[in-house]
Amino acid sequence: MTRRAQFYWRFFGKPVGRTGRIGSRLMVRINRRNYAAMAAALDLRPDDEVLDVGCGSAVLLASHAGEARYVAGLDASDLQLEVARRRLADRLAAGTAELVKGDVAALPWPDGRFSVVTSMFCLKFVPDPLKALEEMHRVLRPGGRAVVAACDALHDEKASGSVDAWGQWRWSAADARLLMEKAGFTDVTASVLGSPASQAVRGVREI
Ligand SMILES: C[S@@+](CC[C@H](N)C(=O)[O-])C[C@H]1O[C@@H](n2cnc3c(N)ncnc32)[C@H](O)[C@@H]1O
Repeated sequence: MTRRAQFYWRFFGKPVGRTGRIGSRLMVRINRRNYAAMAAALDLRPDDEVLDVGCGSAVLLASHAGEARYVAGLDASDLQLEVARRRLADRLAAGTAELVKGDVAALPWPDGRFSVVTSMFCLKFVPDPLKALEEMHRVLRPGGRAVVAACDALHDEKASGSVDAWGQWRWSAADARLLMEKAGFTDVTASVLGSPASQAVRGVREI
């Protein structure tokens, strides 16, 4: 990994230390519109049970998933989870939320546990994005839906499917859709979402 990528990772990939604290706060500011756009795409209902993979400091769950019956977040960063616990304190105390430290490649829930699975800008940092999507598909119940903000919008199609100098995966909309289908999702659609523009994919787990 290049020095640039290592630096970027400490900010956003898996926030750690002083740099990570700054990164954690920065991403909340930068992604304000993306959280709202993701929430609109999720179209949550009162009986939904939602998992956010790579939940970070849990802005999406705390500020945009209030109507869902149950919310769960998983992240690999202690620093992010510490902030997430404060954000979701009321729901954690009420028993309608859980936060887990873990890896997207091995989600600690049984098959079909959630009606909605989402993930924002986590996949672009994981070694095996397909495995991550397969895990998301596994924990989704039949008929459940997934919305994934996969990576920043790609302007050079030739770079699709590769890791850039910042150490993050980039996919074209078509390739992001293919990846989602390969993981087992159906009715997959891809769109550009929010600001800054990002590649998002939505799919369902077949009934
Ligand atoms: C760019 S941040 C996005 C956080 C959050 N989704 C948001 O939009 O505010 C990426 C997050 O993915 C987490 N992450 C990276 N690799 C992971 C992995 N293998 N398993 C679980 N979480 C991971 C990081 O710790 C970080 O919090």
